[in-house]
Amino acid sequence: MLSEKPTVSGKQYHLMVGEGDVARYVLLPGDPERVPRIAKTWDKYWHVATHREYVTYTGEYRGVRISATSTGIGGPSTAIAIEELLRVGADTFIRVGTTGSLRREIGIGDLVISAAAVRLDGASKAYIFPEYPAVASYEVILALIEAAESLGTRYHVGITASTDSFYVGQGRPGYKDYMPPWSKDLVKMLRDANVVNFEMEAATIFTLSNIYGARAGAVCAVIANRETGEFIPDAGVDTMIRVANEAVRILSEWDSMKQRFGKNYFYPGILRR
Ligand code: URA
Repeated sequence: MLSEKPTVSGKQYHLMVGEGDVARYVLLPGDPERVPRIAKTWDKYWHVATHREYVTYTGEYRGVRISATSTGIGGPSTAIAIEELLRVGADTFIRVGTTGSLRREIGIGDLVISAAAVRLDGASKAYIFPEYPAVASYEVILALIEAAESLGTRYHVGITASTDSFYVGQGRPGYKDYMPPWSKDLVKMLRDANVVNFEMEAATIFTLSNIYGARAGAVCAVIANRETGEFIPDAGVDTMIRVANEAVRILSEWDSMKQRFGKNYFYPGILRR
């Protein structure tokens, strides 16, 4: 079968990024406006491209080349971002976004590091059946934990539910209180199954990354608590950005050690060699 190449002057069709434009480590916020905000926390940064919902910056954080690209909200635009970033050389993704906590004790401004995601999105199902796990890379999870510990932030690690709908799909009433039967019990059902938070992109990022042999993780700032009804936009976002940057620095250090000792996988004992 002949297949077209969706590029324009050597740039990826949607993201407008080309070979050499992005680092191997890419932070993935949903919101395009968060990309320059992230870049300003680096030691050096430059704008790469803005096209549709996709804004990309590349720069350097503590000696490590790093990029950030916005994914837009939800699975379909996120899948496009992953596809095109992989094509130009990225191999490690960290979603940075906001989230709704399902537990009273996971408060506003806390961080949630996703160990895996329940695939309530649609995009990942275009790739593989629902039984395929949307699991984060253990190296990225560990680097995020190390970063959160070193910065002294409040964080939790658990299973995330990624949905394609912020309202009805996360058990919130729709317009005119529309609420189908499955939405009414959703929060309780997920909470009983030890799911800790809602967001809208991690499942797509994890599924595609596993299919393509890339690494992915997610750290999200809690802006809503579904148990207490609190909602504070932007709570914890600056802390989340600091943790993600630091996780990239840690991953880069671990990647260098793996290379030096000829290992494919990071393990704690490598730090004592
Ligand atoms: N993002 C979500 O997807 N859900 C929330 O409740 C908050 C942020």
